[in-house]
Amino acid sequence: MYKIAVAGTGYVGLVAGVCFAEKGHQVTCVDIDRNKVNVMKSGISPIYEEGLEELMQKNYAEGRLDYTIDYQSAYKDADAIFIGVGTPEQPDGSANLSYIATVARQIAESVEKDCLVVVKSTVPVGTNDKVEQFINDFLVNDVRVEVASNPEFLAQGSAVHDTLYAERVIIGTESKWAEELLMNIYEPFHLPIVSVNRRSAEMIKYASNDFLALKISYMNDIANLCELVGADIQDVARGMSFDERIGRKFLNAGIGYGGSCFPKDTKALEYIAKQNGYELKTVTAAINVNNEQKTLLYKKASKRLITFNGLKVAVLGLTFKPGTDDLREAASLENVPLLLEQGADIYAFDPVGAENFAKVYPEGKNGKGSITYVSSPEDALKNANVCFIFTEWGEVKAVTPETYKKLMRTSLVFDGRNIYKVDEMGEAGVEYHSVGRKV
Ligand code: UGA
Repeated sequence: MYKIAVAGTGYVGLVAGVCFAEKGHQVTCVDIDRNKVNVMKSGISPIYEEGLEELMQKNYAEGRLDYTIDYQSAYKDADAIFIGVGTPEQPDGSANLSYIATVARQIAESVEKDCLVVVKSTVPVGTNDKVEQFINDFLVNDVRVEVASNPEFLAQGSAVHDTLYAERVIIGTESKWAEELLMNIYEPFHLPIVSVNRRSAEMIKYASNDFLALKISYMNDIANLCELVGADIQDVARGMSFDERIGRKFLNAGIGYGGSCFPKDTKALEYIAKQNGYELKTVTAAINVNNEQKTLLYKKASKRLITFNGLKVAVLGLTFKPGTDDLREAASLENVPLLLEQGADIYAFDPVGAENFAKVYPEGKNGKGSITYVSSPEDALKNANVCFIFTEWGEVKAVTPETYKKLMRTSLVFDGRNIYKVDEMGEAGVEYHSVGRKV
């Protein structure tokens, strides 16, 4: 078993640290925020992620997991230091590497024995070469430090499961020593390991995320055409999915991809290509389709209604997908301001995302319109003139077609997630607009 330090306790760092501890390693998670460290020590997770808190409490109690702001003590005798700090998007689409640089500097000043630095954060191809050079330039003690790439493939909402039962672990190394050490660290996970060089590992992360983004945008593009020619995107997707070369997953058309990864990583790869004098036309197309798709429901509803002024608008779901309180790049953030500008009175339901949404749009009067947060879909639907579905939460899916008919003043529903069968909504007397299917 190894002594591991993890830099950064966001989704990537915290989940990795907790899972390494669960597999028997001795783990210290480092963060700069003292309050956050104290909260984690008390067994509370700073992020909403199923199963994480239980594992935090168990491994902390059993002495394999700890949290600290004292990076020096965590790094000085670690066998491996995993970096999971953010690489946020900059206005030009490039990745901001300042957090990685800060950690690299701290590592260089702290390590007292040979150590492998493993970058989990998504970074532009070639970054880890520079990180290794940077650490060695600033190294205080006479020790060997190498950098490996180990990109993360967890999805929010299923992060713990995705880490413990990953379909593959990608390790990118430049020496036998680094490769063997990283393989040994992952040995107790019993997962398929793909060992490649560092730059390929960095590229695998972007290529994978951008391929999935492309797949979604492709389905959205086809969905829009389906509407025009009278085909049904869900039947089309089902028919396609039997071909193993296409696969069953990520064929769901809707209101575009959101979250912290696909939007950022598509733009980052587009930028990397440009920097290298190359135009990545497919990825650019995925970005453009996604931008259009985000406001699809608003555009559809605007065609159907003369105005939203004074209308009671039910909004079901605010987060970019279910199972998370994350609002980053969520379609709701694009549509709600347009509705408020028009004077809509919004009644919004989201089981965990409402609190974060209220930080941007506080309850009460907002510009010409207003927003009220309610605790059930039914409360949002009562007497509503129109309903928008942005996230397919279980609570939203549980609402029956008859409920829309019964509770709403006008049972007019715009569904961005294709939750219902078109026919059953029709039979219940609901005017139902979805994505890539007939009205
Ligand atoms: C994504 C990838 O799925 C992970 O493999 C990757 O590790 C992660 O990014 C990352 O780079 O950290 P995540 O952003 O958490 O994970 O969420 P996804 O489940 O992939 O969903 C992203 C967006 O695509 C959501 O808005 C979702 O609603 C949308 N989506 C997904 C569709 O519109 N259609 C689909 O068929 C699937």
